[in-house]
Amino acid sequence: MCLPEHLGIIMDGNGRWAKRKRLPRKVGHTAGANNFRRIVKHCSKIGIKYLTVFAFSTENWKRPKEEVVHLMELFKQYLEEALKDFQDENIKIAFLGERKVLSDDLQNLIEETERVSANCDGMVLNIAMNYGSRNEIVEAAISLIEDVLEKKINICDIDAEALSQRLYTKFCPDPDLIVRTGGEFRISNFLLWQSAYAEYAVVDILWPDLKPDNLDAILLEFSKRKRRFGGI
Ligand code: FPP
Repeated sequence: MCLPEHLGIIMDGNGRWAKRKRLPRKVGHTAGANNFRRIVKHCSKIGIKYLTVFAFSTENWKRPKEEVVHLMELFKQYLEEALKDFQDENIKIAFLGERKVLSDDLQNLIEETERVSANCDGMVLNIAMNYGSRNEIVEAAISLIEDVLEKKINICDIDAEALSQRLYTKFCPDPDLIVRTGGEFRISNFLLWQSAYAEYAVVDILWPDLKPDNLDAILLEFSKRKRRFGGI
């Protein structure tokens, strides 16, 4: 089966999962975090090279404070575990997003996780946290303008590759497939530039319920698609 080299996942549906069970939304996020662990392990096992997950968007700060605090706590817990287990897992972890506004604790953990896992040569796990694709593109455009003003780049040498090299994802290929759980047909400011030729799969399964078998079925369906990249 032809796997996507780079798989993106929008992990949507934690809140609805909890609501259906008449539980607080927090419980849905905890279940979502547990499923994230399971799916990360599965992707690594089956040979996905790059996995990018949307963990927290620049718009998610609008949620009730209690929910945001809980999500930040779940991220911390995961990073603390990752720091302990990184050698067994051999997963290289990178963060996409604006980290300066995160708590000092979380920023330190992020730096430590990236440092400690830097030499892992298994799957690359990109965690998009406080990530918004429009901001990312604006920042890349500003960086290009600065480089032109400082004569580091000639204006006629600006092309798509020059902009790509100024995105958080500069070290990885564009995503081949973006999966969204929870059944909604939206991109939600995720990898807008990078997904120009990505395939999409929307599944009507809430994130905490997405099993490795469900993902395998999505990957099988993807492997049968004929990608044309604008050609014939
Ligand atoms: C969307 O579901 C999910 C999020 C905003 C957070 C994603 C976080 C996790 C899966 C858990 C933690 C992850 C890590 C990296 C440890 P929603 O709340 O919008 O669900 P709804 O659409 O049903 O309300």
